Amino acid sequence: MIRVLFVCLGNICRSPLADGVFCHLVRERGLEAHYSIDSAGTSAYHAGDPADSRSIAVARKHGIAVPSISRQTRSSDYNEFDWIVAMDRQNLSDLRAKEPDAGTARLVLLRDYDPQASGSDASAKDVPDPYYGGPGGFDTVHAMVARSCERLLEVLEEARAQA
Ligand code: 4NP
Repeated sequence: MIRVLFVCLGNICRSPLADGVFCHLVRERGLEAHYSIDSAGTSAYHAGDPADSRSIAVARKHGIAVPSISRQTRSSDYNEFDWIVAMDRQNLSDLRAKEPDAGTARLVLLRDYDPQASGSDASAKDVPDPYYGGPGGFDTVHAMVARSCERLLEVLEEARAQA
């Protein structure tokens, strides 16, 4: 079983969408038995809240459900997940700051897996926070998340095939 945790700041916009998109890909490929997927926020600002209605709406356009309820990351996540996938560089740095010494999860950026995120612009490594922007931001975020999740799943499947 490969355990994957998607993480952003509030766990209401980006990481619930990544969670829904990745789950959808896993189901499409009939791989449910091999993956355990969740999402969380580095903050507790929205703990207990459902995903932002704009994330739910953009996902629905693509036939994807976003059922997540926000929760903050906890120290056990670093051992209960194999991969912790941050939406932006700030999330990654916050995750690293809270990483327990005995943590075993691999911490990565989602857009490390975005085939269109190459180049010298460091912000190309971030899924930008769409919370305060207009709804167009959610389409952009969905496109980045969808490209990156496809590639991430390919990489994890290659690793699983070799294990
Ligand atoms: P997310 O977006 O990190 O993608 O869930 C945010 C949602 C809420 C806030 C920040 C980011 N907030 O500050 O309330």
